[in-house]
Amino acid sequence: MHTLYTSEPHTDRRDWQNIRAMAPLLWDYRGRAALALLSLVLAKVANVGVPLVLKEIVDSLDATGAGPLVLPLTFLLGYGALRLAASLFNELRDAVFAKVRYRAMRQISLKVLRHLHELSLRFHLQRKTGAISQDLDRGTRSLSSILNYLLFNILPTMAEFVLVASILFSQYDAKFAFVTFLTVAAYVIFTLMVTEWRMHFRLTMNALDSEANSRSVDSLINYETVKYFGNEELELNRYDSTLEKWEHAAVQSQTSMSALNFGQGSIIAVGVTFLMIFAANGVVSGEMSMGDLVLVNALLLQLFIPLNFLGIVYRQLKYSFADMDLMVKLLETEAEVQDAEQATSLKTDHAKVCFDAVNFSYQPERPILKDFSLTLEPGKKVAVVGPSGAGKSTLARLLFRFYDVTDGSITIDGQDIREVTQDSLRAAIGIVPQDVVLFNDTLYYNLAYARPDASRAEIEQAAAMAHIKEFIESLPDAYETMVGERGLKLSGGEKQRVAIARAILKQPSVLVFDEATSALDTKTEQDIQETLAEVAKNRTTLVIAHRLSTIVDADQIVVLDQGSIVERGTHEELLAHNGHYLTMWELQKKEPQGSSGS
Ligand SMILES: Nc1ncnc2c1ncn2[C@@H]1O[C@H](COP(=O)(O)OP(=O)(O)OP(=O)(O)O)[C@@H](O)[C@H]1O
Ligand SMILES: [Mg+2]
Repeated sequence: MHTLYTSEPHTDRRDWQNIRAMAPLLWDYRGRAALALLSLVLAKVANVGVPLVLKEIVDSLDATGAGPLVLPLTFLLGYGALRLAASLFNELRDAVFAKVRYRAMRQISLKVLRHLHELSLRFHLQRKTGAISQDLDRGTRSLSSILNYLLFNILPTMAEFVLVASILFSQYDAKFAFVTFLTVAAYVIFTLMVTEWRMHFRLTMNALDSEANSRSVDSLINYETVKYFGNEELELNRYDSTLEKWEHAAVQSQTSMSALNFGQGSIIAVGVTFLMIFAANGVVSGEMSMGDLVLVNALLLQLFIPLNFLGIVYRQLKYSFADMDLMVKLLETEAEVQDAEQATSLKTDHAKVCFDAVNFSYQPERPILKDFSLTLEPGKKVAVVGPSGAGKSTLARLLFRFYDVTDGSITIDGQDIREVTQDSLRAAIGIVPQDVVLFNDTLYYNLAYARPDASRAEIEQAAAMAHIKEFIESLPDAYETMVGERGLKLSGGEKQRVAIARAILKQPSVLVFDEATSALDTKTEQDIQETLAEVAKNRTTLVIAHRLSTIVDADQIVVLDQGSIVERGTHEELLAHNGHYLTMWELQKKEPQGSSGS
């Protein structure tokens, strides 16, 4: 599924590398992190102190001792205070650490999105946007959960274990500490092994769950098709066969969990029984008090409470590390198109654009442009025509440097576009693309996108020039109208005119119109042609068109066929030449409306 990322397998060593890669994010808040750790230790000290005080209380109330009973008020108050302190430091730890955690999440989200924008078009065309955003989301959450489990579960439990072991070791016979250690070790090893074994039930369950889900959704999306063919039963059977497998996996997951829990319970029972026998023995022989017995019991039970979650924590940590690994690999993916080391800002003078012997292929096996040479003279209009798939839009993509040419070069005023910054290059070129996609926001936002600092008057003027102002003002919400996902609430022609208005607003040195008016009716197209001519005046312009009537005035027309220029000249010259162009022209003359774009 994630084959595009570097193929290095996910290993424990990588996990450590990944953690180290994330460490700088936390370093900024090391003070806070240290404070949180201190709170953690204090909370655990208070926690372990509780049974210690309990022992004193029990001992002082122990009637077997000499003298009358007095209320051990100090210890009782101390008991309360320790409980309070444990809770206070616990909450303090969470509160102090919150900033570290959420700031780290914020920074990593930002870093990943920035990186995604740096990655090349090729990467984005090959990946499902949904899958990328899921990786982003999971990756950010993985960082948070790893921190969470480490700080709120693993470290505290380890701290508690050390404290308990040292109390047992210092106060009692070594066998107490020894048995405790053995019990915990057996518990941990057992839990990790069983969890590892169980994990695949859970994974199968999740996979089947989403499969069942997509089947049901798919059958509902195809509601009409299902009815056309009367296939309700078929759909239900398909759904149920997945559910059946899911049921099986879910039952296995549940029963194996019970086995795990029971196993854990048995280990604790055995360990605690031994310790209780030791303690009771100590009481009988007079070496230990009743309080000691209570203390040992309370310490151990307290120690095992957090260990109960060990299986869950282990599993979640594994998932989180895998998610984090995907994110790190995503971050390590190198952008195909990068600014050169000493990239300078593009300086445009008259904006003379040269394609010089350009060869290009998306995939090595299939050349798209072959030895393509074309000069766009400053302020002149060059048109490229040719059959669908000839490579016309590819020219625009290369000019914007979405891809690098395989061979040859593209220069603007003598500067190779690979040697200037991508920012400055793209700032100099304006395009009305073949497929206009808009942001799911207001018309105003989409228009202003070309120049967010443009004044309202400028935006309205651009809209007027693109012949869309009247339409916008006829809408109930005018400029505040939401255009819908990808702009789908607008017609094709309306979107195209928004794109034209944007290109006008950008005022670039070089203009590219890729079928800029293909979705418009003949009348609107004619109206707009005048505007386009006006905008293109004194700008270097590349026009890609199917409808030849829109480019008869071009200074130069080239006919592109399968990536090579087969004819070039002015409209008259090409007509006189009696070749491809003439054939296309004759064909289109027969259709009074002109043929629309592919
Ligand atoms: N990202 C890509 N990966 C592989 N092949 C691609 C990619 N983009 C385009 N192509 C192929 O490159 C060829 C040229 O595409 P291009 O978009 O330049 O055609 P076009 O001349 O603009 O056609 P149209 O008139 O239909 O817009 C097509 O055959 C297309 O299938
Ligand atoms: Mg195209």
